[in-house]
Amino acid sequence: MTSVKKIVVLKGDYIGPEIMTAGLTILDTVTRGTTFAYELIDVPFGGDGIDRAGDPLPQSTIDIAKQADAVLLSAIGGPKWDNALRRPEQGLLEIRSKLNLFANIRPTKIMSAQIDRSPLKPEYVKNTDFVIVRELTSGAYFGKPRKLEANQAIDTMYYSEKEVVRIMHQGFKMAQRRNKHVTIVDKSNVLATSKFWRKIATQIGKIYPDVLIDYYYIDAMTMAILSKPATFDVVITPNLFGDILSDEAAQITGSIGQIPSMSVGESGPNLYEPIHGSAPDIAGQGIANPISMVNTVAMMLTESFDEKKIADKITAAVNYIIENHYVTPDMGGTMTTDEVTQKMVDYIKNHE
Ligand SMILES: NC(=O)c1ccc[n+]([C@@H]2O[C@H](COP(=O)([O-])OP(=O)(O)OC[C@H]3O[C@@H](n4cnc5c(N)ncnc54)[C@H](O)[C@@H]3O)[C@@H](O)[C@H]2O)c1
Repeated sequence: MTSVKKIVVLKGDYIGPEIMTAGLTILDTVTRGTTFAYELIDVPFGGDGIDRAGDPLPQSTIDIAKQADAVLLSAIGGPKWDNALRRPEQGLLEIRSKLNLFANIRPTKIMSAQIDRSPLKPEYVKNTDFVIVRELTSGAYFGKPRKLEANQAIDTMYYSEKEVVRIMHQGFKMAQRRNKHVTIVDKSNVLATSKFWRKIATQIGKIYPDVLIDYYYIDAMTMAILSKPATFDVVITPNLFGDILSDEAAQITGSIGQIPSMSVGESGPNLYEPIHGSAPDIAGQGIANPISMVNTVAMMLTESFDEKKIADKITAAVNYIIENHYVTPDMGGTMTTDEVTQKMVDYIKNHE
């Protein structure tokens, strides 16, 4: 008998629930008549957690999430909770750490119909399709000591061997499933942690002889990602550099309203979420772009449930709406969230 997959749903704040509804509608449509069975478990989190349970990450939410097969999160936060004792964003940092999510993976892919929306010239962005694998739980954001005093401030960039080894394996394995090319990003001409990072990358690379490996300093990489984005496949970066690079990469596509991400746990469920925030400026207007959440659902189906064929149907529906310009205003269209979602539903039903 097929096991029923448990998907924890953290529905988010402001546009969060609007796009989560779209994502779940597509999940329902695309899995009908298949053997993929799932149960959705809606638990409080973020601003919704504060409203429903008095905390952005209630203990019950983390307990339930740890038992799940995947966690699906929509964007959280917003001005409503500006003065909260613990803000929604605190819940986000904590859930990543409690689920031990050590790698964040963000794809940057340009379809032909989107090329004109990119801020880069078409000849530069054509065929862009790479993922950034960012170390998420160590490096400059977590190293100690950390101090802010009147006349000095200290941050510490730290990496252990175990932390670098596991992120390298994550990236190399992903490259084996893609175009077998890894780019290592560091600042090994200056930083000790980067010399360490590059040394381990070279050692791990030998375990994957089918994967081509090259190296970029972070400063050169920020330029290369703009001048030749189509030459990359899997980019492995430390936390701080990855934070900056992944936002730069997102801009190449012309709208952040379409990009999914996943954070990978060492054991336990992966967490899937769109890369953007809760967009309070457009919440309630019915114009949030649902593509990010729909792509997030497809990513979950592929990566956590090995249901690539089902995910491919979602990708085909997304390609169809983009190519026919059935899109929301952020992508230059005039449609509402519900209309775009309905177009995808119709497409999936017509191609069963
Ligand atoms: N992972 C998360 O949940 C996450 C990430 C970033 C920011 N936030 C929070 O979100 C709130 C708003 O942050 P912000 O305004 O800086 O960033 P944002 O990503 O919410 O919005 C930036 C711009 O992008 C637009 N946008 C974002 N998603 C869109 C979509 N799906 N469709 C159409 N347009 C979209 C918004 O309208 C806005 O103009 C803050 O409270 C912030 O802390 C949460």
